[in-house]
Amino acid sequence: MSAEAKGGSETGVGLFNPLTLRGIILKNRIVVSPMSMYSSHEGFSDDFHLVHLGRFGLGGAGLVITEATAVSRDGRITHGCNGIWLDAHVPPLRRVTDFLHRFGSVAGIQLGHSGPKGAGQRPWHGNGPLGPEDAAQRREYPWPTVSSSPVPFDEGWSMPRGLTEADMDELVLDCRSAARRACEAGFDVLELHCAHGYLLHAFLTPLLNKREDEYGGSLENRMRLVLRVAEAVRAEWPDDRPLFARISAVDGVGVGWSIEDSVVFTKALAARGVDAITCSTGGVKLARGQALISRERSFQVPFAAQIRRAAGVPTVAVGMILEAQQAEDVLRAGDADLIALGREMLFNPNWPAQAAVTLRQGAAWKEWPDQYGWWLERRARQLAPRGP
Ligand SMILES: Cc1cc2nc3c(=O)[nH]c(=O)nc-3n(C[C@H](O)[C@H](O)[C@H](O)COP(=O)(O)O)c2cc1C
Repeated sequence: MSAEAKGGSETGVGLFNPLTLRGIILKNRIVVSPMSMYSSHEGFSDDFHLVHLGRFGLGGAGLVITEATAVSRDGRITHGCNGIWLDAHVPPLRRVTDFLHRFGSVAGIQLGHSGPKGAGQRPWHGNGPLGPEDAAQRREYPWPTVSSSPVPFDEGWSMPRGLTEADMDELVLDCRSAARRACEAGFDVLELHCAHGYLLHAFLTPLLNKREDEYGGSLENRMRLVLRVAEAVRAEWPDDRPLFARISAVDGVGVGWSIEDSVVFTKALAARGVDAITCSTGGVKLARGQALISRERSFQVPFAAQIRRAAGVPTVAVGMILEAQQAEDVLRAGDADLIALGREMLFNPNWPAQAAVTLRQGAAWKEWPDQYGWWLERRARQLAPRGP
């Protein structure tokens, strides 16, 4: 009973309807959203990542996407970010994909470059730019950052250098090499990180892109580098594996990049073989008096819905989606094709398997790994109220 995503036209499906994208079948519509864990060493993942990502596989997610994984050493956000700029980064990632496949999950990797938000502290070390204390306490030194234009991310952050043409060629090559390695590591889905104020988004948004060459100014010019990257990655990434892009659908309320820009951009990405768009928002520091989208439940769903309908491209809804019925309703309304969860998955990695029981009752225990499901099904019967 596999449903194929046809240009975002499918409606009336729920969380537990499979989805076919190119040659890949997702067993359900639940995605673990990429979440940086700041726990890698020189870009290498280790047992932490195997256990952290692996437990989402045990928990029944259809697609598990790694944290933003840097295409170059300087493309990390912090010293703890994951990377794939070396062939040597592949084997530990292969352990993750092998484990996810064993439990029927599709493995995704998010590729990114930090741009103006590079050389940062881990959140729990301050969440600001690296400074003398980080160097003194942990030997974590800042490095020179890059962006579309020399506009710092925020007060106190270093001034990034605007990429030259040669830098852009290198970035395109780095992304292409990273895609080759991601394939060798066994990933089925690749997501390009074009959101949240990082390098690719810094080219898209007029709030950061002040260039006066063919990579700045008009929307067409601001999209140029990202579309080059998408083309290069698509050329490297196997035809039977889906390519996603995560975008900031808007920078804020009536400021900067707009939803109309997102629709144009989505169509341009789709024309280059991008199969689905994850609809996030924000990431660029706004000026006083400008506002981000307010972050209530399902706050980004309207963007996923609008892009899906206007561009006819499958979308992933993300952001404050917490409950099974809430997620189910988003899909049934035809507002998105997939539902990504971030923090709720940290809270409960078994969310998908639990959602199956909530929405589908007893039969869904079969979808838990045998090692857990056999016991829990019996416990559920024991706990069920008995008749008179
Ligand atoms: C710890 C943490 C790390 C994150 N890292 C990334 C990341 O690497 N790439 C990305 O696109 N989004 C990242 N995000 C954003 C999430 O993927 C997600 O879009 C956001 O948390 C909203 O969804 P939620 O309300 O379900 O958590 C991160 C979020 C958290 C909480």
